[in-house]
Amino acid sequence: MTVPLSFAGKVVLVTGAGGGLGREYALAFAERGASVVVNDLGGDIKGGGKSSSAADKVVEVIKAKGGKAVANYDSVEDGEKLIQTALDAFGRIDIVVNNAGILRDRSFARTSDLDWDLIHRVHLRGSFMVTRAAWNHMKNQQFGRIIMTSSAAGIYGNFGQANYSAAKLGLLGLANTLAIEGRKYNIHCNTIAPTAGSRLTETVMPPDLVESLKAEYVSPLVLWLCHEQCQENGGLFEVGAGWIGKLRWERTLGSIVRHKNQHVTPEEVRDKWDQICDFTNATKPASIQESLHTLVEVLSKVEAGERLGGNPTRGLASTTSAINPSEAVGKMIGEMTFSYTHMHCILYALGVGMSTKEPDHLKFLYEGHEDFSCLPTFGVIPAQVSMMEGGLANVPGLNIDPTRILHGEQYLELYKPLPTSGTLTSKSSIADILDKGSGAVILLDVHTYNNQELVCYSQFSVFVVGAGGFGGKRSSDQAVVTVPPPNRVPDIVVTDETTRDQAALYRLSGDWNPLHIDPAFAALGGFKSPILHGLCSFGFAARHVLKQYADNDVSRFKSIKVRFVKPVLPGQSIQTKMWKEGNRIHFECKVKETGAVVLAGAYIDLHPASDASTVSAETEVLQSDLVFAEIGRRIKDLGGELVKKVNAIFGWEITKGGKTAAQWTIDLKTGNGALHKGPYSGKADVTITVSDEDFMDVVAGKTNPQKAFFAGKLKVRGNIMLSQKLETILKDYAKL
Ligand code: NAI
Repeated sequence: MTVPLSFAGKVVLVTGAGGGLGREYALAFAERGASVVVNDLGGDIKGGGKSSSAADKVVEVIKAKGGKAVANYDSVEDGEKLIQTALDAFGRIDIVVNNAGILRDRSFARTSDLDWDLIHRVHLRGSFMVTRAAWNHMKNQQFGRIIMTSSAAGIYGNFGQANYSAAKLGLLGLANTLAIEGRKYNIHCNTIAPTAGSRLTETVMPPDLVESLKAEYVSPLVLWLCHEQCQENGGLFEVGAGWIGKLRWERTLGSIVRHKNQHVTPEEVRDKWDQICDFTNATKPASIQESLHTLVEVLSKVEAGERLGGNPTRGLASTTSAINPSEAVGKMIGEMTFSYTHMHCILYALGVGMSTKEPDHLKFLYEGHEDFSCLPTFGVIPAQVSMMEGGLANVPGLNIDPTRILHGEQYLELYKPLPTSGTLTSKSSIADILDKGSGAVILLDVHTYNNQELVCYSQFSVFVVGAGGFGGKRSSDQAVVTVPPPNRVPDIVVTDETTRDQAALYRLSGDWNPLHIDPAFAALGGFKSPILHGLCSFGFAARHVLKQYADNDVSRFKSIKVRFVKPVLPGQSIQTKMWKEGNRIHFECKVKETGAVVLAGAYIDLHPASDASTVSAETEVLQSDLVFAEIGRRIKDLGGELVKKVNAIFGWEITKGGKTAAQWTIDLKTGNGALHKGPYSGKADVTITVSDEDFMDVVAGKTNPQKAFFAGKLKVRGNIMLSQKLETILKDYAKL
């Protein structure tokens, strides 16, 4: 049994609650503990007359059941008075259900001014007046839930309801914008198009239907949308007969009908009509930004049409994202080399805000310093080359538009401090692809080597706007995930200014996207001015943590994970809040001037101070290391035979004290088999996570793998059936 949704402590106003749907909502809210303002003018269905009895009766019913309610008899056009009733009786207003309504159906030709105006006054203006009166109260208390009541007549049109359809769809437009303006105050606004038997519908529906389409089938949706747990915002739902469905916009790929330096002609429109109206591969734009983006894209396509000699009238289909995960996942993007000197390290340090004003920054800014070091987050610079050079768009199965890519999250793990000069080779592969509906998330794994030695591992989470909806999964065990900070005041807060030229400086480290320097380009992307690189704020935050918790000792840096939430503008100040939990430093960054969170769910893992001079994963003494060494020897001797018998790749995560202490890959699939220590760039068929101690118990035959699995000591990802072959591999070592 799930926990019932309670509205205890919440104050709800339902307009037009004297009968029909509104009455049902009022009763349902009251039953679940809300204090309810039952508003009803008590007029006839055409908007004439007035009486207090409708609202009073509903209040009586609520009170008789032990609920809390007061009546209000004003018209919704007097919005302030309705809200005042809530404040006078209960001291606050949390939820507004705009439900009051009338009908004045006429064929369009016979619709009078009064028919038009009255409908608009009650439905559209009434909802506006009531909601505006409640808005600031909701804003101040950082909570509000609003329902607009639209209608299928508005969505689809209906004979004889021109006035009503127009007002009802007007409510959807109102709700769309309130959802955007309210979001940051936790005010959510959703729209319903209900169907239920009531006095409004008994004139148009047969009596049986009026009887069977009960109002009580609609109220549960309204209650859920108004609950504090519900995060839905800006949604439109059809509801009735015990069914609920959600609606959204769909748009054809369309066709470009303009040629560079030529007029657009109606003939071109006619000739392209089929393509303009063809819903094959239609997109589902969900915001005005997505809508505008298409136009910006078209402008550049038309412009480029002649220069590239391409066909400027082709549809957008060729550049609209199409993703096929089964083709793309696991694909290597290729090897990229990156050569650098001390100059690049220093330039990067300046780019992320280091300054000679701070004496302890000198070790990152002066190559002659006795402890000259490269900042750990510089690791993303060689790794990002694969993205910068358009590698992603060339992967088979990844037909994506590079202009729609956003950098969503970043993970970086160092296996040893970065050299201050050298040539690094990065190998990238598509670790997984997620379908987030509005877009796709591509997880790009990059392993960076110094000769043969793995130096660092990066995971870029790349969000491709509009590329979702291909029927893929929403999460992946390949993803390194963000972690919320502890629920307490931060241990340390550091504020640091970026300069007006921060982005201009940071880009010299290799991210040449004009979005960060060219005002015209930034404006096309919807920004007031060029924005700072997300990875620049990332660098700022990382050095804040490194200074506060590791005394700027780069050998203590293990890994970092962040989610990019919003951009910083050059010149703004970055405020980093930090929480220490063991060797993990959680952090969150805000823009000081606006309070906007820019980096969230972020953390840095440090090596313990005692291990500072060496990297701990290397120094940790693991009993399992001996076993793997032995397995390695066996593979050398008997590899071919084992490959035939087993034919699988096993990944191992050995943990110590709850943290990953070693990773091994036993490849008994390719060639004569191989053993590899450290993160594996390919894909294991099955990955087993087990503590060093439990691993030894299994190996020593003290427990069998199945038992360990059911006891939760051994976790298996991937092809679980293969774990049956474990015994074959491990039992030979039981003698150890
Ligand atoms: P209803 O007529 O039973 O309820 C509407 C209530 O609003 C009435 O009690 C009326 O006195 C009150 N009202 C009218 N003007 C008012 C004003 N100026 N100020 C305060 N109260 C006022 O109708 P029903 O069916 O319950 O409709 C509720 C809402 O759902 C309406 O907005 C209607 O347009 C909408 N709707 C209903 C559908 C249905 O199948 N019942 C279909 C689509 C939309």
